[in-house]
Amino acid sequence: MNIDILTLFPKMFENFIKESMVGIAVTKKAITVNLVNIRDFTHDKHNTTDDYPYGGGAGMVMKPQPIYEAIRFVKKNNDIPVIYFTPQGKLLSQDIVNKYSKAENIILLCGHYKEIDQRIRDSFVSEELSIGDYVLSGGEIPAMVMIDAIARLQDGVLGDIDSAMTDSHQNGLLGCPHYTRPPEFMGMKVPDVLISGDHKKIDEWRKSKALEITKKNRPELLKK
Ligand code: ADE
Repeated sequence: MNIDILTLFPKMFENFIKESMVGIAVTKKAITVNLVNIRDFTHDKHNTTDDYPYGGGAGMVMKPQPIYEAIRFVKKNNDIPVIYFTPQGKLLSQDIVNKYSKAENIILLCGHYKEIDQRIRDSFVSEELSIGDYVLSGGEIPAMVMIDAIARLQDGVLGDIDSAMTDSHQNGLLGCPHYTRPPEFMGMKVPDVLISGDHKKIDEWRKSKALEITKKNRPELLKK
């Protein structure tokens, strides 16, 4: 799958795409990441990408023309989704990640300053996504969140795909607690059931813990 990233800060992604699971996905060619600097599509001598908002008020708005040209540059056909990150967007979920992880190509548009010109959103953005109810200074970190979540689902990236399928959110619940060696650490023991070898009991224990944690931390997930 190819991911085009339209941003004013391509350098923010340079190490990100080399490290950890995303790095593995890139090395294995499960994903290709194409960094595009929106500033390269400006035509004035100061390479201006933002301007004052009509109607006044604080903050600058990203100009439509460089973004439009950047989208035209990467968008090879009409089916390729353009995803814009904004706190006004729909909340990113595992379902949305699963959907886009199957796409052949996606375009991630990162805004900065106040927002981007609404006309780009109205005419060239397919979906607006938020990563949570807080405001970041730009869409770059949300784009990284999305790339990481997508990369680990690509074939051959995780050693054990079952591991992805038992993650928090993949079945609508949060995950269960995990332990590794040693069996006792600073007086704290691994629950007996996990060393019992009884897989049916282990499964039941994991499910009941997942339910308990979901009830405690995210009760609204149980209503779905
Ligand atoms: N841009 C700024 N804040 C954001 C958020 N919470 N989610 C997505 N994009 C953003």
